[in-house]
Amino acid sequence: MSLPSTIAVDGPAASGKSTVGALLAHTLGYVYFDTGVMYRAVTWAALQRELPISGESAITLLSETLRIEVIRPTRDDGRQYTVLADGADVTWDLRQPQVDLHVSPVSAYPGVRRALVAQQRRIAQQGRIVMVGRDIGTVVLPEAELKVYLDAVVDERAYRRYLEVVQRRAGELPQGVPAEDPEYVEIRETMVRRDRIDSSRQVAPLRPAQDAVIIDTTEMTIQQVLERILELVRDGEKGECGRGV
Ligand code: CDP
Ligand code: CDP
Repeated sequence: MSLPSTIAVDGPAASGKSTVGALLAHTLGYVYFDTGVMYRAVTWAALQRELPISGESAITLLSETLRIEVIRPTRDDGRQYTVLADGADVTWDLRQPQVDLHVSPVSAYPGVRRALVAQQRRIAQQGRIVMVGRDIGTVVLPEAELKVYLDAVVDERAYRRYLEVVQRRAGELPQGVPAEDPEYVEIRETMVRRDRIDSSRQVAPLRPAQDAVIIDTTEMTIQQVLERILELVRDGEKGECGRGV
C-alpha cells in the first residue's frame, strides 16, 4: 500500500485542524488547503458590500462570482498563506470578529456550498493534499483515503482562540483568569453559536464521517495530535487503516 493521497481533517472551531493540518502536509510534502477561508472570504466580501446576511440569493451570487485565491504567504507576519479576494489581500480581515459572527449563516446556504465545494474538489483532484474543514470527509471528498475528525471540549477550544487573539494584539500572553474576561466570554459565546449552526444545518452539517478516526485533542499537545495522525498514515501505508474512536 502507498501513503493515503487525500487526507480529510474535519472538526469544530479551534479543534486544531489548521495547525495540525498544515504540519501534517509539511511533514508529508503534501499541499495544505483550508476550506474555511473560502466561506470566510464570501462572508467578508458580503459585509464589505453591505449585503444583508439574510439575503440568500445575493450572497449565493457573490459566492459564484468572487475570485478566491489561496497562495503562498506574501508577507512574513505569521500567516500560513495569503488569501486574495478579487485580487485584494484579505488574509487577516477574515479573522475579524464580524466574520466569525456571520460566517455560519452564510455557510448554511446550499448555493454557497455548491459553488465552493465545486472549487474545493477541483483543487483536491491533484492528490497529495491535506484538506481541512467541516464536511471534507462527508461531502467534499467522501473517497478520501484517511479521514480524521478532531474535537475538544468547548472551554478548551474557546481558551485556545482567546490566547491567539490576545497574543496577536498584545504580543504576549494574557494575565488572570480568562473566565472573568469579557473578551473570553464573547469568543466562547460566538463559538458555541457557530458550532450549533454548523452542526444543525440541512446541507453538509458538521459531523464525523462514519469512517473517520475521531481524536479528542482536549488534553493533547499539537505534537501529540500530529504523531497520532502520522501513525494512522503509516497504518494506512501498511494496509491496516483502523477506524473508530
Ligand atoms: O478556524 P475555525 O475552525 O474557527 O473556522 P474555519 O475553519 O475558518 O471555518 C469558518 C466557518 O466556515 C465555519 O464555522 C463554518 O460555518 C464554515 N465552514 C464550512 O461550513 N465548511 C467547511 N468545509 C469549512 C468551513
Ligand atoms: O483550525 P482550527 O480552528 O480547528 O484550530 P487551530 O486554528 O489550528 O487551533 C486553534 C489554536 O489552538 C491555535 O493557536 C493552536 O496553536 C492551538 N492548539 C493547541 O493549543 N493545542 C492543540 N492540540 C491544538 C491547537
